[in-house]
Amino acid sequence: MKSYCISIVGTGYVGLCTAVAFATKGYQAITSTHDKQKSASINKGIPPFYELNLQETLQKVVRDGHLECTLKRQEAILNTDITFIAVATPSKPDGSIDLQHIENAAKEVGQALNKKDTYHLVVVKSTVVPGTTENVVKPILEKYSCAHCGVDFGLCMNPEFLREGSALHDALNPDRIIIGEHDQKSGDGLEVFYRDFYAEKMPPLIRTNLPTAELIKYASNAFLATKISFINTVANICEKIPGADVTMVAKGIGLDKRIGPLFLNAGLGYGGSCFPKDVKALIAHSKTLGYAPDLLEAVENVNETQLYKAVQLCRNLLIDLKGKNIAILGLAFKPNIDDIREARSILIINQLLKEGANIIAYDPVAILKAKSIFKNKIKYASSSIECLKGADCCILVTEWEEFKKLKPEDFTKNMRQTILIDGRRVYNPEEFSKKLKFAAIGLGPGNLKSTANKP
Ligand code: UDX
Repeated sequence: MKSYCISIVGTGYVGLCTAVAFATKGYQAITSTHDKQKSASINKGIPPFYELNLQETLQKVVRDGHLECTLKRQEAILNTDITFIAVATPSKPDGSIDLQHIENAAKEVGQALNKKDTYHLVVVKSTVVPGTTENVVKPILEKYSCAHCGVDFGLCMNPEFLREGSALHDALNPDRIIIGEHDQKSGDGLEVFYRDFYAEKMPPLIRTNLPTAELIKYASNAFLATKISFINTVANICEKIPGADVTMVAKGIGLDKRIGPLFLNAGLGYGGSCFPKDVKALIAHSKTLGYAPDLLEAVENVNETQLYKAVQLCRNLLIDLKGKNIAILGLAFKPNIDDIREARSILIINQLLKEGANIIAYDPVAILKAKSIFKNKIKYASSSIECLKGADCCILVTEWEEFKKLKPEDFTKNMRQTILIDGRRVYNPEEFSKKLKFAAIGLGPGNLKSTANKP
């Protein structure tokens, strides 16, 4: 095994988890940021965000001297063989991609390369719209380095497919490696690196050109988002059909190998830092190319309206929301993380507040982040039971494991009116509807036979 020295620009989910993954194999990983506090914290082994197993692993690799975070980006680049650019690519207000961080990163890498006289490989890991690596990153690198791409330095686009909550595991066990290459030497360099890194666990590898690699990332996220909006559409149809249940429909279609069982959980729609942003960016980019992708617009529209199903179901059972106490279980955009970016909970709570409801919310780890948004407009509970106390209705928004363990009695004993909206299909409708007024996404009329559900 060769011992590579790698620099990583960006210390977000992708940058830090990728760096930690490389360091676990004994490579020398140098991450860099301009944020002094962040750098100090990473060097103490404390990640700036919550991610399963990250803290323990970061502490180990820092202790073993395999990972450091520096404020001196240029030095990091000069002392390494490969630089991965993993900075954020947020959306502009019109949905199109904001490339300012990529441009700044490319400039700094170019300035460093100007001082380097040996070959260096630059790898774009950030999600960027097709054409960005060739038409934005490359010219900036060449301008500031005064060097030639493909000769003095190499350039690849290597998208990541990390999921928050299992980012480290995903970095160590990817389904595939995609290498978009500017030229053969660049691609060869990155392939050799990954073959060394994954050794006998090397996943399938695809080598292609830069724009195709860039599009593979968008197409992956757009396809997964499409699966979710598709099953939510089926859920909405189920709700009109007596006896139909979307969870069984998903099971039934998921057994078809051509469809597969994953990403068919109906619910309140997708959130997070990727799907909403990437679907929007792909739509906006396609439009600049003269093509309006109707399918993706529909995917987005379904997602935008799906979350209001929770409010609608609540209204159906409570009639008037004004002055009613509503308990929200789950704030994070998915379980096992503290990230509330584009979380459905935010829009649901805003709508309920608009309709005059009083909100009390609980999440195992995301309360702190939610406080920065809602401040004292809502109340925060320190446990699910405390959240349910005195509530007229409870909406399950994020399917944390601890919420799945709640029994009908936990609701009946603590709530003022026992109304439960299952926004993520975690509860058994038969069991729960016997003891409380129960409604769930994708459940047709007639599934709930108990008297508790009669108005
Ligand atoms: C996603 C991609 O999975 C990952 O490959 C990419 O690199 C980044 O974007 P992430 O945003 O971390 O990862 O979360 P993911 O697990 O994909 O879930 C995204 C959203 O979809 C969540 O809000 C989740 O609740 C929702 N979802 C997921 C559903 O509503 N139904 C499903 O069946 C699956």
